[in-house]
Amino acid sequence: MATTLTAPSCSLENYLVLPDHSADRRIAAAKQQLAGQAVILGHHYQRDEVIRFADYRGDSFRLAQVAAETDAQYIVYCGVHFMAESADILGREEQHVILPDLNAGCSMADMAEIGQVEDCWEQLVKLGITSDAGDQVTPMTYMNSTAAIKAFCGERGGVVCTSSNAAAAFKWAFGRTPKIFFLPDQHLGRNTAVRMGIPLTDMVVWDPFQIMGGNSPDRLRKARVILWKGHCSVHQRFLPEHVDNVRAKYPGIQVIVHPECRMEVCDKADFIGSTDQLIKRVAAAPVGTSFAVGTEIHLVNRLGKEHPDKVVITLDDSGCLCTTMFRISPQHLAWALENLVEGNVVNEIKVDPKVHHWARVALDRMLEIR
Ligand code: 13P
Ligand code: SF4
Repeated sequence: MATTLTAPSCSLENYLVLPDHSADRRIAAAKQQLAGQAVILGHHYQRDEVIRFADYRGDSFRLAQVAAETDAQYIVYCGVHFMAESADILGREEQHVILPDLNAGCSMADMAEIGQVEDCWEQLVKLGITSDAGDQVTPMTYMNSTAAIKAFCGERGGVVCTSSNAAAAFKWAFGRTPKIFFLPDQHLGRNTAVRMGIPLTDMVVWDPFQIMGGNSPDRLRKARVILWKGHCSVHQRFLPEHVDNVRAKYPGIQVIVHPECRMEVCDKADFIGSTDQLIKRVAAAPVGTSFAVGTEIHLVNRLGKEHPDKVVITLDDSGCLCTTMFRISPQHLAWALENLVEGNVVNEIKVDPKVHHWARVALDRMLEIR
């Protein structure tokens, strides 16, 4: 975290009461003053009022690439904590990554705690399923995990993946070892493995709150994929009956979903893709096409607005909101930027140097996989 003291006029309380229109004006002015020094990254789940200020919009893979390539001194990340950590790991030592609200976390990333993961691995080693170095099992983590989990994977020959390159990362890992240990999203892991032709009987789920993850030694020895019992509470809300309902109500509608959705939902969908891939799918469709989209509501609504010649609705009427992505407000962004103008770096995300090296190894491997 940043240790720089903040001048009273730049304290957050003064910003939280700003009406949106003045926050907008101040963001635009601060951006101008910071031109060439600061770059704003915006994940597709950000609110419209925030993402409109992003210099780069993208999914977590695209934004990781931008973070690795930008020369800007300040990377202001409108997204969630694990994304900002990855930007810090991929950026240069002298760059500063700023998360405008530190409460923007990710419940899925919190479901795999490093102590639990080390404990699981130790049990796999004791059973003779792998060596500690990972020569029989490749540990692979979804980007949506802490830097410590990424480092754990990197140190054992493993890799990071995102929802846009999970299949390529699985292929890479199976070229290395006969088994994969996948963290923390069981759904992305299962959906990817199933589409590579791996039967469900060759997969087990490791529940960190059960003895031996809730498995027998024999099941663990036979499994080709060990899935961590984590999930996204936003995407897990989509159910197979939602797909049936929209198909009954809107004949011919295309159902497109994010791979964090349950397998039973993905199995019924016409297309599964990362946020960028869902956007491209809608953009490429002929005028008049209808879509029911299984992902975060801000992206779904934006797709509807940006494609008035198509019909875009959410797969679930109750609308799935990522409350942590929503934490980043124009007021927080104005606060972070105006502080930079004043020379104060607030809410800096700095990854512990002890985990930085191996987390970087795992992320670099991901960026090299084609
Ligand atoms: P993408 O990698 O598709 O951007 O997804 C990130 C995420 O957090 C989805 O919940
Ligand atoms: Fe995490 Fe789910 Fe929000 Fe993505 S949508 S940031 S996985 S809680």
